[in-house]
Amino acid sequence: METIFSGIQPSGSLTLGNYLGAMKQFVDLQSDYHCYFCIVDEHAITVPQDRLKLRENIRSLAALYLASGIDHEKATLFIQSEVPAHTQLCWIMQTQSYIGELERMTQFKDKSVGKEAVSAALLTYPPLMAADILLYNTNLVPVGNDQKQHLELTRDLAERFNRKYNDIFTIPDIRVSDVGARIMSLQEPTKKMSKSDDNQKATVYMLDEPKRIEKKIKSAMTDSEGVIRFDPKEKAGISNLMTILASCTNQTLDQIEEKYQDVGYGQFKQEVADAVIEVLKPIQERYYDIINTQELDDILDHGAEKASMVANKTLAKAKKAVGLGRVKKRK
Ligand code: TYM
Repeated sequence: METIFSGIQPSGSLTLGNYLGAMKQFVDLQSDYHCYFCIVDEHAITVPQDRLKLRENIRSLAALYLASGIDHEKATLFIQSEVPAHTQLCWIMQTQSYIGELERMTQFKDKSVGKEAVSAALLTYPPLMAADILLYNTNLVPVGNDQKQHLELTRDLAERFNRKYNDIFTIPDIRVSDVGARIMSLQEPTKKMSKSDDNQKATVYMLDEPKRIEKKIKSAMTDSEGVIRFDPKEKAGISNLMTILASCTNQTLDQIEEKYQDVGYGQFKQEVADAVIEVLKPIQERYYDIINTQELDDILDHGAEKASMVANKTLAKAKKAVGLGRVKKRK
């Protein structure tokens, strides 16, 4: 069986974009792969975080993984900072990374633009991602569209390492779903829906109450043409709502176009809202059942233990390959 690794940052409340672009895929894939799903808290601190809020977000993200349908008996669910091998291999991967290529990453540029103080960790974010993935001999990484560039760099770093030292790392493939890989902001549909958007109306959060979801979708920005047609350039808002509906109901965009030929935007938005609520409501119910349980802690403890066993083996190989540590003399 091949191996999957993917991670989500506990840097805020999870969005519908995170669910449709990433988590939903994870749930679909977990029966066919050895899966590692990670709460990447060390990535989250590359930008300032409130420590109590971060703690809360870490636990909340763990509960959301399970509530969305991740089965802890099939997949290993764990917190990045509880498996020290991640930062240890990250250091080695940093020695293989060039400052120039790190500075060219879109996410680094976006997050550092106009800021006076940018942490060094924001720049070395991608080698930590590479470490996450490479520790588990990962074959496939399911992500949303915005992470593609980081994954291409992971592949480059792994290939560079393998050429220079030993063929230690498995080169991972990238998996981006056809529909839902880039859910856009409801208010500015030319930019992606994001956890960190200041405009609350732009983002549906996975834990938003049904009424709020309905309100946000009903006030989503559209156009004045009045036709439901997929055209992300000319009709970004409607195309985004079509994508959301397609992802939530497993219909194709063509089927939606046909079905809503003679339907107005008002009714269409209502149906999109209903579909989103139908997907999120059961997840929310499970979430509140799980969030304060000891079982959640047990799952995370067990996950960290299982992940460490695999990660430490790869780390030992990488350290040996580059010549770190010593060979003990036996009498
Ligand atoms: P993060 O936390 O920003 O997002 C988690 C996942 O959600 C996807 N995503 C979206 N998909 C569709 N539409 C959107 N609007 C949207 N917003 C986010 C992301 O593509 C991602 O798959 N660097 C990563 C976390 C990470 C990671 C890894 C991922 C750390 N190590 C190793 C894969 C493998 C991140 O910031 O994701």
